[in-house]
Amino acid sequence: MVNVDGRLSGEREAVVSVFDHGFLFGEGVYEVMRTYHHRPFLFEPHMRRLRASAERIALPIATTDAEIGARVAATIEAAQLPGEAYIRLLVTRGVGEIGYDPSLCPAPTIVVIVKPHVELPAAVYADGVKIALVSVVRNHPSSVNPIIKSNNLLNNALASQEAQRRGAAEALMKNHRGEICECAMSNIFLVTKGVLRTPPVDAGILAGVTRAFVMDLAGKAGIPTREDVLREEDLASADEAFFTSTTREIVPVSRVDDLVIGGGKPGPITTQLRGLFRAAIHAD
Ligand code: PDD
Repeated sequence: MVNVDGRLSGEREAVVSVFDHGFLFGEGVYEVMRTYHHRPFLFEPHMRRLRASAERIALPIATTDAEIGARVAATIEAAQLPGEAYIRLLVTRGVGEIGYDPSLCPAPTIVVIVKPHVELPAAVYADGVKIALVSVVRNHPSSVNPIIKSNNLLNNALASQEAQRRGAAEALMKNHRGEICECAMSNIFLVTKGVLRTPPVDAGILAGVTRAFVMDLAGKAGIPTREDVLREEDLASADEAFFTSTTREIVPVSRVDDLVIGGGKPGPITTQLRGLFRAAIHAD
C-alpha cells in the first residue's frame, strides 16, 4: 500500500511525476521504519533524523510529525497485513521544471510505502553472516555527507553489488581516510577485549537509530562502549562483530571475507545485546 501526498493507492496505481526532482536528481531524503506489535518502532528519532537530513539539503517540510504519523498509520491500516510492516517514508524536492534551483519546486512530495516486514532466517542470527570489505569508498563527508539519509543511494548500491558478487550478506566500507566506517545498509560494531566499539559519526556514517538504541542498551547493561576510529587491523583482533539496522536488528558477523571472527560463531556480548534488544521490543 502506498500513500502519495496523502492519497492511498495500491502498488500498481501509486505514481510520482517524472519531473519530480527526486526522480530527476535523487533530491530527497528517506527513513526506513518497521513495526513491532503493529506500531512503528522509534518513530520520534526517525522523524528527527528525517528533518535533520532534509535541513541539510535545504528541503523544507511543512507537514507536521503528527500528520506524517497519521499518514503512516492510515497506510498501515489500509495494507491489512497479517504480520509486521516495513515502512519507507520518502520526502523529495517535489515536481518542477528541470533545474537545480529549489524554488522551481513549490512543494515536496511525501510518499509512504508499507509492505510486509520479512524476517531474516533464524540461521542468520544463530550462525552469523559473512560480510565483504569492499573497494567502494563511503562518500566523503564534504560530498553527499553520509549523515544525510539521502535517496541518492548509488554509492551504497555499488558497494552492495560488490559484496553480492563476493557472496557476502553486507558490504563493509572504508571512509576517505581508509578507516572502517559503516556498511551499505547498516552500522558496524566490534567487540575487542570486552569493549564494544563503533566508528564515531564524524568517520562519515549515518547516525543509525538502531546504533544509538544498541549503544544505550549496552550502557545500561554496563558493557563498556566506545566510539573509536577503527582500522582494517582491528577486524583481525576483534573477538566479535555485528551490524545493526532497523530491518535487521543485530546481525552477528562470522567472517569478513576470509577472516574468521571469534571462531566463526556469534560471541557472548552480541548474544547478550540481542537478548536485551528483543526484551526491549517486547516491553514496548
Ligand atoms: N538502512 N547506515 C546506512 C548507510 C543505512 O542505510 C542504514 C539503514 C543504517 C542503519 O540505520 P538505522 O539503524 O537507523 O536503520 C546505517 C535502512 C534500513 C535501509 O536503507 O533500508
